[in-house]
Amino acid sequence: MDVQDLKFRVYFLVVVLAGLLILLISLINIDLNMWYVYIFWILVFMIIDIRPISLDIKGQVSLSFALSLALLLIHGTWFCIVVSSVGSVLTDILGKRGWQKNIFNCSQYSISIFAAGTIYSKLSPQTKEIFVINEHIIPFVFTAFTDIVFNFLLVAIIVALSYKIPLFSVIKKDLGMVALFLFSLAPMSLLIVVLYTNEPWSVILILPPLALAHNGFENYLKLRKQARTTIELLADVVDRRDTYTASHSSRVADYAEKIATEMGLPYEQVEKLGMAGRVHDLGKVAVDDSILQKNERLSDKEFKLMRTHSETGYNILSPLDMYKDLLSYVLYHHERIDGKGYPQGLIGNHIPLGARILAVADSYDAMTSSRPYRSAMSEEEAVQELIQNSGKQFDPEIVAAFISVWEKKSRPGEK
Ligand SMILES: [Fe+2]
Repeated sequence: MDVQDLKFRVYFLVVVLAGLLILLISLINIDLNMWYVYIFWILVFMIIDIRPISLDIKGQVSLSFALSLALLLIHGTWFCIVVSSVGSVLTDILGKRGWQKNIFNCSQYSISIFAAGTIYSKLSPQTKEIFVINEHIIPFVFTAFTDIVFNFLLVAIIVALSYKIPLFSVIKKDLGMVALFLFSLAPMSLLIVVLYTNEPWSVILILPPLALAHNGFENYLKLRKQARTTIELLADVVDRRDTYTASHSSRVADYAEKIATEMGLPYEQVEKLGMAGRVHDLGKVAVDDSILQKNERLSDKEFKLMRTHSETGYNILSPLDMYKDLLSYVLYHHERIDGKGYPQGLIGNHIPLGARILAVADSYDAMTSSRPYRSAMSEEEAVQELIQNSGKQFDPEIVAAFISVWEKKSRPGEK
């Protein structure tokens, strides 16, 4: 078990023990005469929680946040903890989400609500039994904020530990999205409380706008994911048009990620290189089959046409927001540090780092794959070729990082 696994287990255990302890105290404090109210809200919670929305990095959000915040204000902390925890356990069982996820979800609900409830009881006017919006709005804002922060951090830490991604990267990647979602839901909680205080049945009026918010957010994320999948499938089709380059882009993505990791680049950069590797030759979609599948060496004219692929790839990806930070990697992946590459003949550090990394990954994979006009080089020969061209075609620091990755793979026992 490595240190990361140990951290994961300790964190999981601490959250689960704290959460279950809070749940136990809540169960001792509830009023059993109100059992039908509990059942009613647990059912509502389950309906809302059954379809959570998956985020970019393994976390999920659901509208149940709005409900649990409202329940905290209407019925108090213990009530809210019992309904949210039991509701979340039952939903996870129905959704077959696995016992680890289930018990963690339940525990993080208990802790977040307990923290938020503590803030609310400290800040809200003790004399008022009924929720009065003018007097409770400020305590509500702090309560919602506490709930969001606890909820988000508890989940972000477990995601970071279990997928071995730096916590900062998880927070940075999902924070904007989660904040937008949760802060837009917080006013919904307020509306539920106001409606419930005046006429309990009228809370059902809030369900259609909640469903609309859920669908809108879900579709937005789905479209983003589908756009990326479509582009990557198109890149695969390009790879497959030439049987000699099948899976080339996936391997380049893999090498590029490993080089970037070896160089100690931040997780975001590693991820960008993976994305860029998958689509770096997308522009070949516009290159004719007669050139792409030619069994002899290409003529000068054909080479010229083949070389347009980096610019074509750049143009195809330009309108897509998610590729905007890695367009230059695609455009310049055939540049050489001695300035003899294309399309612009950039020299040295004028070539973006990502493009220099892709160049090494791309060339190594090309050399170790068979071509119609030559058989594949051995891995050792390809590495020698990289060394010989280090400082001319390739960035020496990147070649060194690649060799280090390659040596670890070839001799797994050695560091
Ligand atoms: Fe290329």
